[in-house]
Amino acid sequence: MPTVGLLTGGGDAPGLNAVIRAAVRRAENGGWNCLGIIDGWKGLLDGQTMPLGRANTNDIIAEGGTILGTSRTNPYKKPDDVKKLLATTKKLGLDAIIAIGGDDTLGVADQLFREHNLKVVGVPKTIDNDLSCTDYTFGFDTAVNAAMEAIDRLITTARSHRRCFVVETMGRHAGWIAAYAGIAGGADITLVPEKPVDMEQVIAVLKRNREEGRTYNIVVVSEGITFEPGAFVTVKEGELDEFGHVRLGGVGNRVAELIEKHTGYETRCVVLGHLQRGGPPSAFDRVLATRLGYAAAELVVTGQFGKMAALRGNKIVAADLREAVGATKTLDMELFKVAEAFFAVD
Ligand code: F6P
Repeated sequence: MPTVGLLTGGGDAPGLNAVIRAAVRRAENGGWNCLGIIDGWKGLLDGQTMPLGRANTNDIIAEGGTILGTSRTNPYKKPDDVKKLLATTKKLGLDAIIAIGGDDTLGVADQLFREHNLKVVGVPKTIDNDLSCTDYTFGFDTAVNAAMEAIDRLITTARSHRRCFVVETMGRHAGWIAAYAGIAGGADITLVPEKPVDMEQVIAVLKRNREEGRTYNIVVVSEGITFEPGAFVTVKEGELDEFGHVRLGGVGNRVAELIEKHTGYETRCVVLGHLQRGGPPSAFDRVLATRLGYAAAELVVTGQFGKMAALRGNKIVAADLREAVGATKTLDMELFKVAEAFFAVD
């Protein structure tokens, strides 16, 4: 029987376990064995694996995180690691690999496919929803719901104290989570990386809304916004992960300070951080992840490699990995226009 290895890489996202469960089911039905690779590409360097089958995946659809563990290990970072990874793949008897991840993990998958003919299939994952060639990534819906629920909760305390709350969301350099959460939570205004920050507009909107009778304010801020191009606010200065990314976080506090200074409204900032990534997946994410996991295993069983299972409209299709990892999918500005209708000032 041929064997397919499954790995999850990058930041976790609610729905990873649902993908694993569905992929195992479809692969086994197609006559394949499954092997779990621990902690993403790191597990393929170290040979760390775990058995995967119906018995230990049947019951995991409601669990957030990933039973396989994850890491941001980049095998292209050190000179000999790719060689090591290919040798381990051979030693483990893997005939194919399903890589479940975002741009970084799938970028490695694509490179291994093109340069070494490793038989890989990708599954798009990220709460940021910033991966090309798929309309949505699983994890995004859960993250948006977490942010929306946080806003709902903050509104009751904001109203009681007549305060302004700045809610900082994740999303890296794409404003998807912020835009959706801002619309769903009825924010006064939402700031996204795709648009230059205009604090004069922010202040004007908040003042106008107070004049119109609103007794509190909610400002949603995506962690990737900047006051000057490229000047990101990071958790730890100079810290980069193996794929060269900075760790964003904290810009909401700067926005809160400016709001308080220019309006006099008592302002607090809440950084939602990893609360958006933890916890059980939403129904939408469980279903999407199941469909993608099933489709990825189908691609393996039918011998279609270098592909990524993707959502287009309401259909699951096979996209080229190459195209998927080419460019960040930034926020749809048509959608943002709808959000902006609520914070236009004359
Ligand atoms: O890519 C997913 C994501 O949650 C981003 O929104 C965020 O910037 C980053 O990961 C945080 O990474 P870490 O878990 O390494 O702090």
